[in-house]
Amino acid sequence: MAEAWTPEGWRAKPIAQVPAYVDLAGLEAVEARISSYPPLVFAGEARNLKQGLARVAAGEAFLLQGGDCAEAFAEHHPDNIRDLFRVFLQMAVVLTFAGGMPVLKVGRIAGQFAKPRSSPFEKAGEVELPSYRGDIINGIDFDPDSRNPDPGRIEMAYRQSAATLNLLRAFAQGGYANLDHVHQWTLGFVSESPQGHRYQEIADRISEAMAFMRACGINPDSVAALRSTDFFTSHEALLLGYEQAMTRVDSTSGAWYATSGHMVWIGDRTRQPDHGHVEYCRGIANPIGLKCGPSLEPDGLLELVDILNPDNEPGRLTLICRFGAGNVIDRLPALVRAIEREGRSVVWSCDPMHGNTIKAANGYKTRPFELILQEVENFFSVHRTESTHPGGVHIEMTGKNVTECTGGAREISEADLKDRYHTHCDPRLNADQSLELAFLIAELLKRDRREQGHRQPAAMGM
Ligand code: TRP
Ligand code: MN
Repeated sequence: MAEAWTPEGWRAKPIAQVPAYVDLAGLEAVEARISSYPPLVFAGEARNLKQGLARVAAGEAFLLQGGDCAEAFAEHHPDNIRDLFRVFLQMAVVLTFAGGMPVLKVGRIAGQFAKPRSSPFEKAGEVELPSYRGDIINGIDFDPDSRNPDPGRIEMAYRQSAATLNLLRAFAQGGYANLDHVHQWTLGFVSESPQGHRYQEIADRISEAMAFMRACGINPDSVAALRSTDFFTSHEALLLGYEQAMTRVDSTSGAWYATSGHMVWIGDRTRQPDHGHVEYCRGIANPIGLKCGPSLEPDGLLELVDILNPDNEPGRLTLICRFGAGNVIDRLPALVRAIEREGRSVVWSCDPMHGNTIKAANGYKTRPFELILQEVENFFSVHRTESTHPGGVHIEMTGKNVTECTGGAREISEADLKDRYHTHCDPRLNADQSLELAFLIAELLKRDRREQGHRQPAAMGM
């Protein structure tokens, strides 16, 4: 019998990755204030996302989850949000049209501010300071003042999330995502790339189909699904004081929901079954992600599945696998077989970023694009062998023309990394690389579907 759950119950458990606040009174005051602020998302939306994820679990849709490694206060510009949203739409178009699968769109955005770190301290020469833990906690500048956790940042993060979410809702519902605009989502620097040309071809065919449907009397004015899309938000539920303050009872269902985002996930470093992060997440009714790294064994996974999804509710749990390209074939099959053997419903998603991080010779943290593609390919091939659905991907990406991951059609080299290396944390795919990845996934989806016979899944209901 599971223990009773309360939003603050995690405080009685052991916990990793907690910032060392000095200003505890300030922290308490901020958390108290935030607990009376409006929720950022509505429980009904989280339920809709869960329904969409249940369809992914059933093999009828594909989950596209992505965004910055870490959002930053200094990068809070509408162009950044728009550019990410654009690439997201382009990828979704490629997957929906070429891959033949409805796509569930979930941003790593509007709340992705807290970062787990491998070491609590960072050393530069003789100076040692607390590590940067994300803008919701401290500053990235390497000085004692900025690295001191500042409770006021939590309120800033809440407000930035609200403004970002507001713009995303406007883009998704207000006309920007209208399929009549499929040509306009191409970013300037992408239009001349090989991916840009491939995208152009798909956009041409969609325009043709739209013109045909228009002649038949079906158009974006008459059918909402053609002029809008559903876009959901997600982030790592790491800073639990903030999450607790944003946890509310839904009056419709009587259940507790995290209202800081539609979906939250548990990181690979904080998934200890008896620790605070798992304790918090088990009690909220949102869809939950669980990062699965190479150290997770089948029994450990099943234990977590029992805690996080005791009723085996489809769409509740997404397993986000991040093994590293070379480990997928070794590690993933045992987990898939354990889940299948126990008859548990999950979404299998592939994070091809975090297991493939290396340090370039010139000191930059980077990720070779070939390894990212390789991890996705290996993920698909395991699911093909096991006859399970490769449900989605989870990627770190940006709409900006950055040089953070090496490789791709533009062949970014280690020497190029210095040109536009802007990330606050991990290296992200740029717009070109993101599109290239989407084309690869579309091919893999098409291949799997060809083998299963031509079943045409219905739309996501948006
Ligand atoms: N509403 C559908 C969907 O979201 C179709 C759609 C509208 C769409 N605008 C889009 C698909 C932009 C991808 C990208 O799937
Ligand atoms: Mn990251």
